[in-house]
Amino acid sequence: MLPQIFVIGATGRTGQLVVDEALKRGHPVTALVRKPTSTLPQHDNLTITTGDPCRALDVETALRSLKPSNPVVIISTLGQTRTSGNPWAAATSPPRFMDASARAVLAACQAVRDSVTVQKIVLMSLFGAGDSFAQLNFLMRFIMRHSNMAQTLEDQNLVDQTIRKNGNVPFVLVRPAMLTNGEVAPVKVHGTQGKGAGFMPSVSASSVARFMLDATATKDFDNKAVVVSN
Ligand SMILES: NC(=O)c1ccc[n+]([C@@H]2O[C@H](COP(=O)([O-])OP(=O)(O)OC[C@H]3O[C@@H](n4cnc5c(N)ncnc54)[C@H](OP(=O)(O)O)[C@@H]3O)[C@@H](O)[C@H]2O)c1
Repeated sequence: MLPQIFVIGATGRTGQLVVDEALKRGHPVTALVRKPTSTLPQHDNLTITTGDPCRALDVETALRSLKPSNPVVIISTLGQTRTSGNPWAAATSPPRFMDASARAVLAACQAVRDSVTVQKIVLMSLFGAGDSFAQLNFLMRFIMRHSNMAQTLEDQNLVDQTIRKNGNVPFVLVRPAMLTNGEVAPVKVHGTQGKGAGFMPSVSASSVARFMLDATATKDFDNKAVVVSN
């Protein structure tokens, strides 16, 4: 039985592609969004529900609204936002909100465990998080430390720790290289640290979306972080 896919961050660049890919594969999909949105498609298999992904009760309520018969995989593509793509542009998301969401999701999974089977949580992290930082080139290490991307890195590092400490739900931490708007292309997996990923690797958001859906269907990456590029 195909699991239901519960998407957090569905209105974002990669989140929308995750929703599209999940629907294409025939999954029932539920997206938890902050406010009503027209960025997601109208589709018989897509339910859009509103709530704050950092509030455990909102996540719990949304999970309880799913079909109890089907297992659930949660995919999170939340991202820290800035006023522009410039690494020094001002942050527009609260510090550590992604970690707050990871904690809320884990608390909600615990709360619903008697009635909802959450098979796995697949999270979008980034190349540079946790023990992959040392494999970034010197330029990216400098930018990540000294620009406003430091807020993203700090938050992703906290998510990494929070998810690993959870002993109940299997997880996959996907660490993409720099995102592009390119077409879907084959993905190279560079292990947890990203050794051999090259000087300035990149990956299309559409390839990441596909990889995240692939990760729902295999145990190959369970309880691991993996750096991915094209
Ligand atoms: N850019 C890169 O090159 C790159 C490389 C590797 C990994 N990554 C990682 O990939 C992930 C996704 O990136 P993306 O570009 O696809 O994301 P994005 O387009 O910036 O989307 C961000 C998502 O997070 C939500 N969000 C932002 N602030 C929020 C808040 N305070 N509370 C609740 N939700 C909030 C947004 O919801 P609303 O629509 O409601 O605002 C949106 O759904 C990020 O975690 C990023 O660190 C990025």
